[in-house]
Amino acid sequence: MSYQNAARWLRRTAPLFALLLCVRALAAESAPLDRAASVSSPGAVLKVEVSVIAGRPSYRVWRFGEPVIAQSRLGFVLKDEGKFDRNFELTGSATASSDSTWEQPWGERRFVRNHYNELKLRLTEVSGAQRALDLTFRVYDDGLGFRYEFPDQAALRDVVIDDELTEFTIAPPATAWWIPAGHPQADNDLEILVHRTPLTEVSTTHTPLTLRTDRGLHIALHEAALIDYAGMRLARIDGQQLRAALAPAAEGWKVRRSAPFATPWRTLVIADSAGALYMSDLTLNLNEPNALGDVSWVKPGKFIGIWWDMHLNRWTWEAGAKHGATTEHARRYIDFAAANGFRGVLVEGWNRGWEGEWYGRGDKFSFTEAYPDFDLPGLAAYARFRGVHLIGHHETGGNIGHYEAQLAAALDLDASLGIDSVKTGYVADANQIRRLDERGVERREWHDSQVMVRHYLRVVTEGAKRHIAIDTHEPIKDTGLRRTYPNWLTREGARGMEYNAWGQPVNPPEHEANLVFTRMLAGPFDFTPGIFALDPTRPGSRVKTTLAKQLALYVVLYSPLQMAADRIENYEARPEPFRFIRDVPTDWSETLVLNGEVGNYATLVRKDRRSDDWYLGSITDDEGRLLTVSLGFLDPARRYRATIYRDAANAHWRDAPEEITIEEREVGNADMLTLRLAAGGGEAIRFAALPGNRRVSVKH
Ligand code: NOJ
Repeated sequence: MSYQNAARWLRRTAPLFALLLCVRALAAESAPLDRAASVSSPGAVLKVEVSVIAGRPSYRVWRFGEPVIAQSRLGFVLKDEGKFDRNFELTGSATASSDSTWEQPWGERRFVRNHYNELKLRLTEVSGAQRALDLTFRVYDDGLGFRYEFPDQAALRDVVIDDELTEFTIAPPATAWWIPAGHPQADNDLEILVHRTPLTEVSTTHTPLTLRTDRGLHIALHEAALIDYAGMRLARIDGQQLRAALAPAAEGWKVRRSAPFATPWRTLVIADSAGALYMSDLTLNLNEPNALGDVSWVKPGKFIGIWWDMHLNRWTWEAGAKHGATTEHARRYIDFAAANGFRGVLVEGWNRGWEGEWYGRGDKFSFTEAYPDFDLPGLAAYARFRGVHLIGHHETGGNIGHYEAQLAAALDLDASLGIDSVKTGYVADANQIRRLDERGVERREWHDSQVMVRHYLRVVTEGAKRHIAIDTHEPIKDTGLRRTYPNWLTREGARGMEYNAWGQPVNPPEHEANLVFTRMLAGPFDFTPGIFALDPTRPGSRVKTTLAKQLALYVVLYSPLQMAADRIENYEARPEPFRFIRDVPTDWSETLVLNGEVGNYATLVRKDRRSDDWYLGSITDDEGRLLTVSLGFLDPARRYRATIYRDAANAHWRDAPEEITIEEREVGNADMLTLRLAAGGGEAIRFAALPGNRRVSVKH
């Protein structure tokens, strides 16, 4: 493309971006092709430079002048066409700035500021077909995102990507918290315990990948807006050099698209502390705004379910003498939900097809036919009468062909019964999702391949058409699509509570402290907290936390749909701590991280979206801790009644997990609190705003 054409392109595609044109020759003596363009974040915290040197594009990132990302390559390998990462010239460049605030229909906070500087570049091959590739970088004070765009062009219309060559070369030495990816022998690829190693020992990892440099800088690598593309894992190439490793399709290629299209954003959050990583809204900001219009029908809330008893082997999913999903059990759960203010009741095992081997098969499941001992319409009506909503359950066993054939009918049935949220499941080993290709041949897929990325979103958009929200288990990772599709309420995507029932092995005491600054950076997690009987009877089962920590998880591990996962009997036996679960909301107007270190501890506070109350959750790993926190987040004009649920003096996850002390005191914004967390422990506090205590200034 000539410079005249480039100028035309800039005028056409980016009329607002004419602020700064900052292409410069790298050095006077360089070949004429060598060019660089740069952009800094609004507060000049971060600087990104993109260069084309000897025809090859790469980028670098600095924070306050210190290198964070050393020279890292960009580009692709295309099927049958070879490398698409060289022979380029920088033929267009423009910058723009944006500063806006948008409102979340539900979330960790109500208002989100989106403040960035943008650099858009066009790369054009200097010879041959002269194909073009566009790059957009958005740079925030707390990180950056960049993506490729394949423009509409005759020379490259059907794009088949064999590999993405995007690299991330971390400049300072760093420790990594990571989950190995792409192990064909794994049961579920995302449900492996978090590893902590030097970055130089990482093999291939899922994202978010959390890093802490030796000088205390925190970095999270991830992606935003993963739509119709393969999920990005990261493979370590050498030293601290990572490269995108896209999940392969069954056919071997990674992505198949028609131009024009854009890749997901490759994201780096870069901050001084673990807490600041968590506070970043970069992933959400890089997603498109709400595409669904009025989403007042999407309802966050708490639920109970016919669930834990199956995991403990007391009840079964399949019909028979121990069937969990009976009309009688479900009525009892609906009554308990109504009496205790739960919006939802999940019933698993309601539908035909659970007999025999369903795991990884799923070919017997019906998503419209209930077992004869489960009166679906009668129970849906009874739930409505009691002000409660049944939550649907579609376990697919990872057979998406079988599920997709029934999807419309299943969601229509749910909608007709007033079921406005559905939990889906894809229980299948890694790389064992079944689908049918265009010729009707069965293929096996990874949970994060392009086919699956499409499938998961299809379920969400089909749900949206019928005003049904989705809670995906064994999901594709969260990349912030809840902004665009607010009915994608929550998902699993890491090792949840269920492993404590199965005991192979159970989650270690540091598990949840690991999750806060790793998995939770991606978005909501249906972890299913709230187990009160911490030493359940199934052999090998064990919950390695204290009871106070179970309560704290409602605040620490955010999910707009939050389960009270234990059996009704266990809640009835402990009404005082259960009070916290009854009170705690699941939708927030503000969130703050008061303290935390990756994998060790975290204290978060959140403000209820519907009242002036605040809630605190603090958790620790295997180590007991004293943490002092300021209550400066409270409204200075109010007094609050703090109901404190803390580990008793003798509490310990191993010997005395259920020992809890509950006390009340009046507090205000000038107070400090000392939290004393037992080993494997936690603390939960409700700060209820007291009426009539607004401080009024009186003139004398
Ligand atoms: C795994 C899910 O995570 C769990 O919640 C569910 O009960 C089972 N699959 C059965 O669908």
